[in-house]
Amino acid sequence: MKVEEMQGTKEVKNMQGAKEAQDMKNMQDTQVVQGVQNARVAQNAQAVQDARDEQNLKGVIDNKEKGINDTKDMKDGKNMKDMRKNGRNKIEIKNLDLFYGEFQALKSINMSIPEKEITAFIGPSGCGKSTLLKTLNRMNDLVEDCRIHGEVLLDGENIYKNMDVNLLRKRVGMVFQKPNPFPMSIYDNIAYGPRTHGIRSKVKLDEIVERSLRSAAIWDEVKDRLKESALSLSGGQQQRICIARALAVQPEVLLMDEPTSALDPISTGKIEELVLQLKNNYTIIIVTHNMQQAVRVSDNTGFFLMGEVVEYDRTESLFSIPKDQRTEDYITGRFG
Ligand SMILES: Nc1ncnc2c1ncn2[C@@H]1O[C@H](COP(=O)(O)OP(=O)(O)OP(=O)(O)O)[C@@H](O)[C@H]1O
Ligand SMILES: [Mg+2]
Repeated sequence: MKVEEMQGTKEVKNMQGAKEAQDMKNMQDTQVVQGVQNARVAQNAQAVQDARDEQNLKGVIDNKEKGINDTKDMKDGKNMKDMRKNGRNKIEIKNLDLFYGEFQALKSINMSIPEKEITAFIGPSGCGKSTLLKTLNRMNDLVEDCRIHGEVLLDGENIYKNMDVNLLRKRVGMVFQKPNPFPMSIYDNIAYGPRTHGIRSKVKLDEIVERSLRSAAIWDEVKDRLKESALSLSGGQQQRICIARALAVQPEVLLMDEPTSALDPISTGKIEELVLQLKNNYTIIIVTHNMQQAVRVSDNTGFFLMGEVVEYDRTESLFSIPKDQRTEDYITGRFG
């Protein structure tokens, strides 16, 4: 490794250390104010982080043992196969270009999204993260003047060819930046999707509502007020209701566009813990502006700039040894 690269790496690590120290300080301040219960949540977050670090470390060692640490091809996802644990890509994006009128918002995107892993999209405002996320469940179909070339394969099937859009959106759910529960009861929010897919039985709906709320780690907080309006909940609770609503139709993929950017640190911790649990059953793609969050929760990270994927790699590698100067500049806060 060149001297400059080593210095760069050191800087990244120093910066992460400083940020972690600041995070820890913030967490401590919050604990003092919020009391014992919140301290427990913070400890859980730390425990999750510790487990994550251990897992990341193991991942790096495994990769080294497999001799695939040379990541030349990883940038465009070609080598993602070798990095996955269970040998399957859920989504493959091939030569994807997207235009809004004359403006090209996505340029030749090639990425493989491993199944039951968490993939983070990072990059400065306007670089195309939300656009790509929306492309994965055809939300851009609703945008006038939007043209898409290339392929998005879900389990090998092109979602832009002969795929029923409603079925696609059932398989690929989405959670937005701002919690957006429907103006109806908590129960009806969760039952909404299953009802539109034809489920009428009260027993069945009750079961789905409870299971979804439990999966979104909010059952205990709302089980005695299911008939109340979802809008009466706090922002962090509303976001978990939206996650429960997305889970109620049993999707395979969960797209999350900055799901914690409107939330306080405690709610953010809860959502992050939840996301880590959900990856046992779902393939998750999360857009975040929070580097620490990407490091804490994701297995893979894609760094976007002006509609292009600059670098795509295992999260541990991208943040500790970025291969592109622009990635390093971004994650060390030099621009963006
Ligand atoms: N419906 C639209 N019509 C025209 N241009 C659009 C539309 N939606 C997004 N864009 C443009 O496409 C580019 C990418 O936007 P996008 O929302 O994907 O960025 P982003 O990376 O999600 O940014 P942020 O971090 O601010 O959410 C921007 O230049 C944006 O102005
Ligand atoms: Mg966005």
